[in-house]
Amino acid sequence: MAGRIPRNFIDDLIARTDIVDFIDSRVKLKKKGKDYRACCPFHNGNNNSSFSVSADKQFYHCFNCGASGNVLTFIMEYDGIEFVDAIETLAEQLSIEVPREETGTGNSPQSDYVDRKDLYQLMADITIFYQQQLRQHKNSQQVINYLKGRGLSGETVKRFKIGYAPDGWDELRKRFAISAELEKQLIDTGMLIAKEKSGSYDRFRDRLMFPIYDRRGRVIGFGGRVLANEEPKYLNSPETPLFHKGKELYGLYQVKQAYKEIPRILVVEGYMDVVALAQFDIDYAVASLGTSTTADHIHILFRHSSEVVCCFDGDKAGRDAAWRALENALPYIQDGRTLRFMFLADGEDPDSLVQKVGKQDFELLIEQAQPLSDFLFQHLLSQVDMGNRDNKAKLAQLAIPLISKLPESVFRQMMKERLIILLGVDEDGLKKLLPDAKKIEQKNKKQKVTPMRLAVSLLLQHPSIAYGLPEFPEFKELNLPGITLLNSLLEICRITPNINTGVLLEHWRERPEYKQLTKLAAWQNDVNEEKYEAVFLDILENFLNLHISNKIEFLKQKERAGRILSSEETLQLFSLLREQKQN
Ligand code: UTP
Ligand code: MN
Repeated sequence: MAGRIPRNFIDDLIARTDIVDFIDSRVKLKKKGKDYRACCPFHNGNNNSSFSVSADKQFYHCFNCGASGNVLTFIMEYDGIEFVDAIETLAEQLSIEVPREETGTGNSPQSDYVDRKDLYQLMADITIFYQQQLRQHKNSQQVINYLKGRGLSGETVKRFKIGYAPDGWDELRKRFAISAELEKQLIDTGMLIAKEKSGSYDRFRDRLMFPIYDRRGRVIGFGGRVLANEEPKYLNSPETPLFHKGKELYGLYQVKQAYKEIPRILVVEGYMDVVALAQFDIDYAVASLGTSTTADHIHILFRHSSEVVCCFDGDKAGRDAAWRALENALPYIQDGRTLRFMFLADGEDPDSLVQKVGKQDFELLIEQAQPLSDFLFQHLLSQVDMGNRDNKAKLAQLAIPLISKLPESVFRQMMKERLIILLGVDEDGLKKLLPDAKKIEQKNKKQKVTPMRLAVSLLLQHPSIAYGLPEFPEFKELNLPGITLLNSLLEICRITPNINTGVLLEHWRERPEYKQLTKLAAWQNDVNEEKYEAVFLDILENFLNLHISNKIEFLKQKERAGRILSSEETLQLFSLLREQKQN
């Protein structure tokens, strides 16, 4: 398999693209001062121009929802695709090939940047193979009878490209693993399982196969159902370079195909639920793949529609799963987005229910789904007995962290008011019930201005202010929070001419500091435009001075402790004192 995409190619790609032109081709931008503005494409229900794109910085930022990044981030978020695909999109526009380094080490932070083209092709070929087997295999009739028994039409089977994995240990292997390289690829994609010593065998045998598509319509994995009563009922592809369970939703691609704008998405539990609902013309259902609904899922769902309804079993397990989904969803509930919960009667799932009651009645049930706010308070109230004051405090204690997870919005305000009414107190009373209510609320608020934060944000926003600066080995000895980051930023900016924010940030995408850096890149400080260079250099100078006084203090303390300084140290002390005086 081909290796990593070289760093300097990525830098170059970003540098050669104009983020303003690129975004403008998808979201109409209007010039405002030096920057460009638009309605933010990343949060619904707004019509102000909170979305700002800077040509200088090659960076976008929404003041409202906080979305921000460079042109690659924009493509990833806007098209809902992954990093390597975003790079390919950009490279295609410039009609250039994406180069690959020889072979990746596999454990570097960039090991994700591997070429996956061959693997996608392989999965596509396997999908066709399974579809053919559904018609041609000696078990064909039995499989088709099963599908009929479950009420699925040929059209639905085709639409979801459902197939059949033949029984036998090496049907797929015989067909596809015709070279060592291909065998390895089949193992990498989870289609073959490697034997302990050598060789491999088919993972999926005698199963009904549901291909799992990514959002661009490429098969990335499979779910396989047994035809008889065996265990496990469903076998899924393992985590592979193509397939990340917690980030994919079965059926989303088909929903995207069916609608230009998706009015509503229904989230269900199983493959069969999605397929059966589609058969009944409820063609907007997706399934989380045997995991609970993750934060990634919620993020993706709201990127595709502003109305999401999650459907769960009515039993305890279903309610618990719904609660986990709610907790994951809170940070994404902006004004204009709704999330509701629907619980089914015991023993029922969407598949069985829709077969029983049909489209119309099923949709009636969707209409009656419980709004997030109702579910949240109902669940909390079921945990406390509101009879006494202590329990009021407990309710507040449970509710406030949840409400605090919501982004600043009218909805959040309403939730708070609802809590206040439930508790029968006013806002002050709420604070008394829970002295740290305020603290929790302010946690999301503004960051404190420290010299380090200011320096890092100025440098991120105007990287050229450091171009040509000398090295500061002194900084390596300073023990200040953030200094390592500042040093690495300086290292790049000192020697790279014409670098902009977008390119600079890219160096951190895979590192833990990335989030913090994008925040600082979008951070509005009060420094006057003509002053940022001066302010920045001033801070650096202060750091240097700090370094000098640290050293002086160190030597003086040594003296005070009664130890005699060497002649070298004495000289050093004098020169440091002189330097300090000069500054
Ligand atoms: P269910 O057990 O509810 O199955 O699992 P189902 O969807 O009703 O399937 P049918 O109707 O019997 O065919 C729901 C989902 O949980 C995952 C699958 O994604 C399934 O669709 N699951 C279930 C597994 O991954 N493995 C299993 O063994 C069972
Ligand atoms: Mn079922």
